[in-house]
Amino acid sequence: ATKAVILVGGSQRGTRFRPLSLDLPKPLFEVAGHPIIWHCLTALTKIDVKEVFLIGYYDENVFRDFIRDSSKEFPQFTIKYLREYEPLGTAGGLYHFRDAITKGAPKRFFVLNADVCCSFPLKEMLQLSDDREADAVILGTRVSNEAASNFGCIVSDPATKRVLHYVEKPESHISNLINCGVYLFDTSIISRIRKAMILKNERKETDPLYDPSDETGSEDVLRLEQDILGPLADDKSFYVYESRDFWRQIKTAGSAVPANALYLQKAYQSGSEELAKPSLNILPPVYIDPTATVDPTAKLGPNVSIGPRAIVGPGARVRESIVLEDAEIKHDACVLYSIVGWGAKIGAWARVEGTPTPANQHSTTVLKNGVKVQSVTILAKDCVVQDEIRVQNCVCLPYKELKKDVANEVIM
Ligand code: GDD
Ligand code: GTP
Repeated sequence: ATKAVILVGGSQRGTRFRPLSLDLPKPLFEVAGHPIIWHCLTALTKIDVKEVFLIGYYDENVFRDFIRDSSKEFPQFTIKYLREYEPLGTAGGLYHFRDAITKGAPKRFFVLNADVCCSFPLKEMLQLSDDREADAVILGTRVSNEAASNFGCIVSDPATKRVLHYVEKPESHISNLINCGVYLFDTSIISRIRKAMILKNERKETDPLYDPSDETGSEDVLRLEQDILGPLADDKSFYVYESRDFWRQIKTAGSAVPANALYLQKAYQSGSEELAKPSLNILPPVYIDPTATVDPTAKLGPNVSIGPRAIVGPGARVRESIVLEDAEIKHDACVLYSIVGWGAKIGAWARVEGTPTPANQHSTTVLKNGVKVQSVTILAKDCVVQDEIRVQNCVCLPYKELKKDVANEVIM
């Protein structure tokens, strides 16, 4: 059996997920009817995992209800939240909680970034690790050359899949094979992290110009990407499993829309019972919470999630969108490529829309007349759009009321 760590980050993070992270920690935001990290847990049920740790620096009680519910739903493993006293970085947390991770001497463990949406080919990663007797396997995917430098970039040997170079967010182009934020490590990685920690401390004492808190803000911070993966590539047992399946990062609030679409499509392909039955007015895949009220004359889909107690009125049209808890869409309104926040209200005949972005671009902005604007329209908590109003490519902060047409704006 293996273990798994999900790096959930903390409340100072997820700022790009605003305004949606103002009311809920990003890992708990629901896409395709479930919290983002629920999808990670579901992937872990497909392999032999006995223990899952969520490591982050959110308050102790933030994940309590989620862990209680998921422990019932996923009895095959235990789930624990381990809280960092301050942000320790992506490797610092693994080191701080090394006793919990290495207890029972597991041979290896998975590390998952919480903020990715993907098919999680964990079995395939285990297989590659076995075949090559790897110390580390990283999940990689190809993106456009322009997008690559926003991620960790991997140069690999195409025949053996060995990682030859790893550079975190390089300034110039080195490869379009990028780090998906999913790793399988031999437990010996912990002693590598220890060595990196010692090295950092030594440098602190001997190099008067070196400030360990320079880039990272804290002296105890250790970054998996820069401090561990780079050097690991110089050794010979670091491999990449290249996924041909879907992968998206969930950073900005708008990126929840493609993530929602991808997880809905996955559920649809696997014949999930949770999804709404396709019909004349339901274009699959569509998820409707059992407590939501959708008028039979409303047309939904594809790629739509309707949250708890939400109301969708007669003649409304919703596609490529997420409608959150207690939101209301009045009759004949149209919602496209948008997120309708908790308790938000959209008036009759109103039109709320964003614009689609190409999948390999990995961006949530589009150019309109040469200016970057949000591709997805986001109405935060309790926003109101009055009847017959048109909202295009806007982000609307909580509690705002829109009484006139708006386009390409952040409404504060
Ligand atoms: N526990 C903990 N403590 N978690 C953290 C911390 C920390 O101090 N800092 C970040 N995380 C978590 C975040 O919540 C996220 O799940 C993950 O670690 C990575 O976040 P970032 O450090 O912000 O990196 P990134 O998302 O910009 O880039 C990483 O992910 C990309 C794939 O999505 C890198 O690994 C890239 O190389 C990679 O391409
Ligand atoms: P597309 O899916 O847009 O290619 O068109 P379609 O022929 O499949 O028709 P669909 O049922 O998707 O809806 C027609 C289009 O009407 C929508 O995509 C919206 O752009 C537009 N529309 C604008 N306002 C409304 C409205 O209040 N109700 C409906 N049903 N549609 C609206």
